Amino acid sequence: MKAFRYASPTELVYGAGSRRRVGGEIAQLGGSRVLIVTDRGLAGVGVADELATHVATDGVELVGIWTDVPQDPTFADVEALVAKVRTDRVDTVISLGSGSVMAAGRSAGVCAPDERSVRAIAKAGPVGRPLLNVCLPTTAGSGGEVSRQATLTDDESGEKSGVRGWQAAARLAVLDPELLVSVPRGQAVASGIDAMLHALEAYWSRRATIVTDSLARPSFSVLFTKLVESIETRDVEVLGELLVASTMANLACGNAGLGLVHGLNKGITGLAHKQGYEAVPYGMLHAILLPWVVDFNIPAAASKLATLARDVGVAQDDDDDTNAAVALNAAIAGWLLELDAPRVLPWPTCTDDDVEFIVKDTAGRPMWQDNARTATEEELADLVRKSLTDWSEIDWSTTL
Ligand SMILES: [Fe+2]
Repeated sequence: MKAFRYASPTELVYGAGSRRRVGGEIAQLGGSRVLIVTDRGLAGVGVADELATHVATDGVELVGIWTDVPQDPTFADVEALVAKVRTDRVDTVISLGSGSVMAAGRSAGVCAPDERSVRAIAKAGPVGRPLLNVCLPTTAGSGGEVSRQATLTDDESGEKSGVRGWQAAARLAVLDPELLVSVPRGQAVASGIDAMLHALEAYWSRRATIVTDSLARPSFSVLFTKLVESIETRDVEVLGELLVASTMANLACGNAGLGLVHGLNKGITGLAHKQGYEAVPYGMLHAILLPWVVDFNIPAAASKLATLARDVGVAQDDDDDTNAAVALNAAIAGWLLELDAPRVLPWPTCTDDDVEFIVKDTAGRPMWQDNARTATEEELADLVRKSLTDWSEIDWSTTL
């Protein structure tokens, strides 16, 4: 077996209604002055106020609710939050929300005890101990509750940056599927596609290990087979399976890395920001790239894709690996159609300079190195150009 390293600093508590125990959990971990960090949407439907009723307990006091976290928070958003944390002498940050909220809340927990700016900490890395960070995810998606990376946007350059390292990971994640019941459909779809890709790209990664495979393989099955059902029924049992699967998928990709879907996504998003092109939400952009990248990876990842195909019942044990992998890609395309996900970039065209920008950006990222199959710059350019074609026009039951 090859040598490897695996780390996860976050304790998990799972259960329907487990949010009601959050005050006691914080008391046990030594927290006393609590700020709930969330977004306006969740605050507006009363989710933050309801959680607030479960915080106060012996020695634990709620000092406020911060509702100003936007989608894709910036350094400036976190600076404002850090000021609030310092002024109110907060020692415990509860992040209640999706990936953006958890990134902002965890960053504030890291940056508040540090005199440097958020930008400086993102650049040079955190030092010292963070405040007590507790996460309660409200989507089955990013897995930010166990991530050691908190992604933020640089206000000046528009580039994605963030706070990285063990300090950026939550000390405790409380996984309560009841918090997922009323997530809007579009958000549930985009989050679910992202989580499924964390599992898939960790599983085919060159840095995959026996530990990450044991997390990625079952989480892929759950996310692939139950996402549609969970959105239609909102059944708490099924939502719980999805929530735990999305957490496991992040534990896998946080150690094994990701692949070209995530890599190209970053380059395309960066170009859209730079050129003022129409942006596609993060999880939905994965859907535009996914069948093309699976098809590209089949020659290098047939055996792993075949295992997943057999797990989800779209191939038989005696099917040839390549045929099974192709069947999985066709099933993935069908899954994305069922979710009503986008299939093509909403740009009329892409100039040669645009393609080159995306290729250079992607080739400079670890996802390019970790992807199952090494892509040349010409192959990356080909994948970018393909994303301007509606993939539903392709017959995915054969390789291209
Ligand atoms: Fe992701």
